[in-house]
Amino acid sequence: MVRIQPKWSPRSWQNCVAQQLPQYPNPLELERVVAQLEQRPALVHPSEILKLKHLIGEAGQGRRFIVQAGECAERFIDCQSEVITDKLKILLQLSLLATHGLRKPVVSIGRIAGQFGKPRSDDIETRDSQALPSYRGDIINGFEFSPAARRPDPHRMLDAYQCACATLNWMRALGESGLTDLSRLRRWVLSSEHGSSSVFDEIKSRMEESVALLSSWGSDGALPGFLSRNPVYTSHEALLLPFESALTRWSEENKSYFNLGTHFLWLGERTKHLDGAHVEYLRGIANPLGVKIGPSTSPREVISLIQALNPTNEWGRVTLITRLGSGKVADVLPPLVNAVRDADLNVTWSCDPMHGNIVRMSDGLKTRYFDSIMSEVLVSQKVHHDLGSWMGGLHLEMTADDVTECVGGESGVKENQLALNYQSYCDPRLNYAQSLELVLRFCDAYKSLALHEVASESVVSQRVVESALSFSS
Ligand code: PEP
Ligand code: CO
Repeated sequence: MVRIQPKWSPRSWQNCVAQQLPQYPNPLELERVVAQLEQRPALVHPSEILKLKHLIGEAGQGRRFIVQAGECAERFIDCQSEVITDKLKILLQLSLLATHGLRKPVVSIGRIAGQFGKPRSDDIETRDSQALPSYRGDIINGFEFSPAARRPDPHRMLDAYQCACATLNWMRALGESGLTDLSRLRRWVLSSEHGSSSVFDEIKSRMEESVALLSSWGSDGALPGFLSRNPVYTSHEALLLPFESALTRWSEENKSYFNLGTHFLWLGERTKHLDGAHVEYLRGIANPLGVKIGPSTSPREVISLIQALNPTNEWGRVTLITRLGSGKVADVLPPLVNAVRDADLNVTWSCDPMHGNIVRMSDGLKTRYFDSIMSEVLVSQKVHHDLGSWMGGLHLEMTADDVTECVGGESGVKENQLALNYQSYCDPRLNYAQSLELVLRFCDAYKSLALHEVASESVVSQRVVESALSFSS
């Protein structure tokens, strides 16, 4: 029997079993930090959160597409203007490619301004017979392999708040400067040399033509609203519950609690127990939520989770982010899609092709093969298409840097090159070229599915789709 707490409060999760939380050596110190965080200003406003929920609901109904991407684990040392600017630019580039390729407006969500905590499969890391607590993200402990660094320190939550605040502030400043307007796409070139891509340059000039055309239709040359405002939303995993509940605030206007530390939170694969603390916390806030779905999740479990988190069946509230692995997706995804549809549950489907495709090399480095990642994306897309469902989003771990963490792709990172520029503190990320290639190939596959669909109907309608898809011609 499912045990749901009868009365919810921002701290009612404390009555449930919590996975993946650190054991802070000094509970009083933890309480002092939480009390300070509770006094800090909120980072986002409920109206932005509700807007995002609406947009995600539209993506669930096939009218939009979500690009959610960013770091596996943000690091405090990366809280710098230029690094944040590049993260924003690559997210905008990927969103632009998807807008162009799918002919749909895109919702851009960064794994940014709060993605500081990591769930770990192993509590302990052993090196040269020394065993220490695993690194759990900068919000919990330090990456350096020493007893002092690996000790969980609650003061890190204040640093995380500070970094989230500064990151979001700079993102908003860039937005205010017009950087995120589609009309400014010339400014989306990355600061580093490797950041130029001929494919992106070509799409950019085609988009510029289209944007110029659209603005010439406006009354005074102004861009239609959807082109001139292109906000980037923030998200992170709801992992460190003392931090999350401290940033949870009541909105009198909406008569609801919101997590005002970010726009979107997701429930991790390792913490999605129906009667666990993380589900208990998330069920009471009004933010849009992601739920990571791994390959061993049964359709029944998925249904129960959705019902617990979205009892009113509201569009946009739940995004199911499947991360099944390229070898399993073809078998596991169809029963999940069918079960959700049969139960009439309103969800948005997204595909995380990263977390089911991690392999460890003989030297201990973790990697992901680009081919496996690509294959999970394409199989997921095809399964949804064949079942009459819409895969409404992609969830990626990537970076604007030229890292060598994932093997393959046209840029051709080889297995023996991984150590050349491996920077991740946690999971291997797609580099700039690999990220663009993935989104382009996803869009190409969409185009052929769309063309194939009408091919059987009539030659005339096929031509209509072809010309609609050729956009700038
Ligand atoms: C993540 O997205 O960083 C993550 C750990 O995912 P999952 O919970 O799906 O393993
Ligand atoms: Co990860």
